[in-house]
Amino acid sequence: MIVVLDFGGQYNQLIARRIRELGVYSELLPYHIPVEKLKELNPKGIIFSGGPNSVYDEGAPRCDQRIFELNIPILGICYGMQLLAHHLGGRVEKAQHREYGKATLSLRAGSVLLQGLEEEQVVWMSHGDLVQEPPAGFEVTAVSPTCPVAAMEDRDRKLYAVQFHPEVRHTLKGMEILRQFVYGVCQCKGEWTMDAFIDQAVAAIRQQVGDKKVLCALSGGVDSSVVAALVHRAIGDQLTCMFVDHGLLRKGEADSVMQTFADKFQMNVVKVDARERFLQKLKGVSDPEQKRKIIGNEFIYVFEEEASKLEEMDFLAQGTLYTDIIESGTETAQTIKSHHNVGGLPEEMKMDLIEPLNTLFKDEVRKLGEELGLPPEIVWRQPFPGPGLAIRVLGEVTEEKLEIVRESDYILREEIKKAGLERDIWQYFTTLPNIRSVGVMGDARTYDYTVGIRAVTSVDGMTADWARIPYDVLERISNRICNEVPGVNRVVYDITSKPPATIEWE
Ligand code: XMP
Repeated sequence: MIVVLDFGGQYNQLIARRIRELGVYSELLPYHIPVEKLKELNPKGIIFSGGPNSVYDEGAPRCDQRIFELNIPILGICYGMQLLAHHLGGRVEKAQHREYGKATLSLRAGSVLLQGLEEEQVVWMSHGDLVQEPPAGFEVTAVSPTCPVAAMEDRDRKLYAVQFHPEVRHTLKGMEILRQFVYGVCQCKGEWTMDAFIDQAVAAIRQQVGDKKVLCALSGGVDSSVVAALVHRAIGDQLTCMFVDHGLLRKGEADSVMQTFADKFQMNVVKVDARERFLQKLKGVSDPEQKRKIIGNEFIYVFEEEASKLEEMDFLAQGTLYTDIIESGTETAQTIKSHHNVGGLPEEMKMDLIEPLNTLFKDEVRKLGEELGLPPEIVWRQPFPGPGLAIRVLGEVTEEKLEIVRESDYILREEIKKAGLERDIWQYFTTLPNIRSVGVMGDARTYDYTVGIRAVTSVDGMTADWARIPYDVLERISNRICNEVPGVNRVVYDITSKPPATIEWE
């Protein structure tokens, strides 16, 4: 195992993930983890991540000096390098120009970390401070036009450091550098695979749960589905899943959840039909934020109520991912948006948490789902918001409007699939703006709803561009929606990026 110590940088999540891509298990841990705990984990190597601070800032995150006495190889990246230099007696200074972006590195001969690479290397820099002088015992192994010490190493003490970011793709040979650290320096074996992850997770869940009972809220989304399948693999019938059908899912989804989990996997699934209850609560409400709050709260009430009818459950399994934790803010990373998985639990429920996916990224979870035998429509399901179709029906939600969104969305999905564009478009759905307009059908005047098509390309949903769906595909979608969905006489295509718009309309 390689431990990545988190000093708050933007790319930290990537470092652990790249190491896992290399076939070695890696976890990101807080920078202030006690040395004793670190020793217990017995890592083969430690990576100090980047971070937004200067080592001279008041309260800048520091590591425990005793880490250097463990005789475990260390790789410092960016802030991690400056910290290493600072702790060991080197000199760190403010750079004359903050440096962001591509830089060309000149390598010196004799480096272990950079061995086998050509003399000039394109790397990615993002820093305000830099190391002016390495600590005693270190040799400078690379320089750049702005960095007198772009990489350094103390081979005897197995301490290595780079000012650039090997974990980002813009550093062209970044993976080779990480590989050399992991295999060449730390002598890892490369035995980590998804199978190994499953074995480890299953063993850990069994140990944690013993003969007790676990409850899992199944939403039909990728994360909760994978966690349910994984926990089921570990403890079988000790798991009960609860699926609350709030009536805000897409066409066919509630049935597909039941077919997969109750029929195929033979799990204990309690299906709660709360459609009417949610509709009642949403009656007369048109403010988007209020709609979201009502749905979030109602979900918790229903869940609690129904859970109290079951035999006593000791644990609650959740599909919290690594990125959920990061986006909701850790001690070192800034909060981007609060995520409903984290901290949004019913507080009164006295259950311990099981979160076996909390070290994984979305694509790793998909791989895990495939490995566990979940069907592609679940594993490759596009992102879907917790409040569901309620935020795609603009204004007040009624069953009539939900039906229009369900049916038009289904047509859109069918046509996108037929056109082979499923994996090219990150998210695609229809919305129902709260407007009617005049049309003509079969010589008669109509006064019906307009449906909006939203389709975007994105990497993480934080920014997005509208997808360039071919005109003939759009034409088919529009024709089918007007012809097949009662109450619709007009279809429009949303050609706004995010920002300034958001992906969802509410
Ligand atoms: P926006 O509309 O903010 O959406 O650009 C970005 C991504 O987040 C999804 N989304 C949500 N997901 N709960 C969720 O789990 C929510 O309340 C929620 N709101 C938006 C949205 O579908 C898109 O993928």
